[in-house]
Amino acid sequence: MTDAAAPAAKTPTLPDAQTVTDVRHWTDRLFSFRCTRPASLRFRSGEFVMIGLMGDNRKPLLRAYSIASPSWDEELEFYSIKVQDGPLTSKLQHIQPGDQIILRPKPVGTLVHDALLPGKRIWFFATGTGFAPFASLLRDPQTYTDYDEVIITHTCREVGELQYGKELIDSIRQDELLAELIGEGFADKLRYYPTTTREESPKMGRITDLMRSGEVFKDLGVAPLNPETDRAMVCGNLAFNLEIKDMLEDYGLEEGANSKPAHYVVEKAFLD
Ligand code: A2P
Repeated sequence: MTDAAAPAAKTPTLPDAQTVTDVRHWTDRLFSFRCTRPASLRFRSGEFVMIGLMGDNRKPLLRAYSIASPSWDEELEFYSIKVQDGPLTSKLQHIQPGDQIILRPKPVGTLVHDALLPGKRIWFFATGTGFAPFASLLRDPQTYTDYDEVIITHTCREVGELQYGKELIDSIRQDELLAELIGEGFADKLRYYPTTTREESPKMGRITDLMRSGEVFKDLGVAPLNPETDRAMVCGNLAFNLEIKDMLEDYGLEEGANSKPAHYVVEKAFLD
């Protein structure tokens, strides 16, 4: 923690240090924070960087975090789990505005528009903190200019875990800058499909089960995924990623990469 009264010379300067500007705690398991952005950092929506803190052994303790903010934002935003005995997040969850974090300014990742072939509809499938890269992509004008329809599904255990995503979707729908850039009707393209698995909510169940039963397609009034029209990006826990990957393959979609764009891409959400 920084001490404003301490002489500057005594304040340890971390390598690749950035300053925390805002912290919000969403549940006892989730928080988000914002920090300064290195002037030279350019990234594509959906990419991640390594961030962390100095460990007790004076070695940086770093983990991969998707950048949740859009590439036009002057600050960076991250969305994180809190794991009480997690090496990094047990400490990171206590950061306050003014504190420093380490941020290696080398963005990489597969959840990028460049890895997908053109299509009509894009599906973003998230569980838990896997929402983070989509928080960036959903604020990228390209998402709406490339596709006629944008569907974001978010499956969490409890209702409170949906709040970060819900507020973000609400703010996007009212975003005047995006409306100006893409056109007034852009918000109509955005469909939001939140589900919970362990607490009562209007839509219960894992998204994978809701796809298998056809319920999600019925609810949204769209046909099941089809490689001719649909593209998908997936970010969640490992079991979810593996399961939905198989399902996407069964629909006939093929996995893409930066070097070989195709129909869908997958990234694992960070778990400390
Ligand atoms: P569930 O409560 O049935 O395990 P977590 O917080 O553990 O990362 O999980 C986030 C959400 O992802 C939970 O709602 C969880 O449902 C769901 N989930 C976990 N594994 C899978 C899977 N294989 N397929 C679909 N959803 C999953």
